[in-house]
Amino acid sequence: MYPDLEGRRAIVTGAAGGIGAGVARAFAAQRIALALWDVQHEPLEALAAELRTAGATVASEVVDVADSAAVAAAAAAAERALGGIDLLVNVAGGNAGTRPALVQDIPGEDWDRVVGANLSSAFHCIRACSDPMRRAGGGAVVNVASLASITMSLHFGASYTAAKAGLLGLTRHAAMDLSRDGIRVNAVLPGPVITEVMRLHASKSTLIDSIPKQVPLGRWVEVDDVANAILFLCSRASSACTGTHLIVDCGLHIGCPSPPDVYFAQRPSGSA
Ligand SMILES: NC(=O)c1ccc[n+]([C@@H]2O[C@H](COP(=O)([O-])OP(=O)(O)OC[C@H]3O[C@@H](n4cnc5c(N)ncnc54)[C@H](O)[C@@H]3O)[C@@H](O)[C@H]2O)c1
Repeated sequence: MYPDLEGRRAIVTGAAGGIGAGVARAFAAQRIALALWDVQHEPLEALAAELRTAGATVASEVVDVADSAAVAAAAAAAERALGGIDLLVNVAGGNAGTRPALVQDIPGEDWDRVVGANLSSAFHCIRACSDPMRRAGGGAVVNVASLASITMSLHFGASYTAAKAGLLGLTRHAAMDLSRDGIRVNAVLPGPVITEVMRLHASKSTLIDSIPKQVPLGRWVEVDDVANAILFLCSRASSACTGTHLIVDCGLHIGCPSPPDVYFAQRPSGSA
């Protein structure tokens, strides 16, 4: 799909999870060499083995991206293993094992963990990869933020919403600061994505059926939808885009106050 990406070298964080694993598979299909990072050893190694069997070049490492020293060491190792770094995709994030709570009830350590996993992590990774990417002649960073960056989170708390909103500020500023090194920095904002974990969670509730009824395009966002947006932002096709974000939410952010069925029922087609 993007021939210019063949032979590029990418770090994908949070690669053991739903979106991260999908990004890794999509990148491998473009013949991008991969360094995959996650805190979860077993699913990470299973994915790395799957991709190597399919012919991909893959280095995998257990890295806590909230730990700046660990990230610096892993970035140096990835540069050695792949011969350079051209692309960085910051996927790692989520609720970091915390329970949802109202802002007035969030324990300070939970706030720190969520901000660490979703925001500080991207800062550590961008800082550690900027020199290797400059040495490689430039490249692209994509931060996986969320529709919550510009609205609020349905399942998680204010810490998550604030961290993902902060990620957009980091995206803009890093885009400016790294522009002279030929490094573009952008973000994707997924709405609810039907990952394996989400499929399991949603199947136990009415969520699996209710989301398609609420969004203009009438379906869940799939992992591949997010991976495709990230491929675009990494490729030469988006060479004029930096400091911006791409919303991947089947139209949820439009904010129609009624479900699409009600909206269209009030406006019968051809009735003008
Ligand atoms: N699934 C959705 O609906 C959705 C919507 C919007 C944004 N997002 C964002 O997309 C990203 C991926 O989400 P997902 O649904 O695939 O979730 P997931 O929980 O399946 O994957 C997240 C991965 O990040 C890893 N991770 C978390 N903290 C880490 C750390 N400190 N160091 C290294 N790895 C760490 C986890 O181990 C996990 O493998 C997250 O940033 C999430 O906030 C998801």
